[in-house]
Amino acid sequence: MSSSLPLIAPSLLASNFLHLQRDIDCVIQAGADWLHVDVMDGHYVPNLSFGPEWVRQIRKTTSLPLDVHLMVTCVDKCIDDFAAAGANHLTIHPEATYHPYRCLQKIKQLVLKAGVALNPGSGLETVYPLLDQLDLIVIMTVNPGFGGQKFLPEMLSKIKALRALIDKEKLDISIVVDGGLNDQTAPLVTEAGANVLVAGHYLFGGDSETLGDRLSKLRVA
Ligand code: DX5
Ligand code: ZN
Repeated sequence: MSSSLPLIAPSLLASNFLHLQRDIDCVIQAGADWLHVDVMDGHYVPNLSFGPEWVRQIRKTTSLPLDVHLMVTCVDKCIDDFAAAGANHLTIHPEATYHPYRCLQKIKQLVLKAGVALNPGSGLETVYPLLDQLDLIVIMTVNPGFGGQKFLPEMLSKIKALRALIDKEKLDISIVVDGGLNDQTAPLVTEAGANVLVAGHYLFGGDSETLGDRLSKLRVA
């Protein structure tokens, strides 16, 4: 079990794109640790969102780590563009490329933190051959593609199993949980062993004056 407080990574997918700077300033003020940027290409997932130019602009607004979640089929080709744009972490979906290990090696060679995201239908064994390249593993607690979906409690056992593996093998890998997190579900995933919580609609869906309160409610051990 993870004993320290989790880091919070607001998902900019749920921000108001027309007031992105304002919304970024709000979550930074509220104590965000990372900014989570969901990249969607309309192929790997049925939605479109940010491209490298967005990341380049977001980079100018903050020195917080930019945690870029690539939900794209162009993984091999996109890595250089997002690295050049200023991403700090690049997370790939391993089934989106023929060569997940090579993609992770490339991310590491660029001196970025490398991650894989596990869809609800993917078992933990997917990450076993990749462990030596990984800084973070994202457990998806919704199907990827859209914000505002309902948390899947069935994923808690996967988080617990991953925490047990990381502790047993003494691996320096963060467990990031992404999807459907709010003040009810966040304590469950932290208790299960998550270190980093991604949250979109819960944080950006209410008024900005109380955003700090909502963020604090996520950060419970
Ligand atoms: C879903 C994305 C998530 C999403 C989370 O494909 O990976 O990062 O923005 O949003 P909420 O917190 O609204 O489920
Ligand atoms: Zn995400």
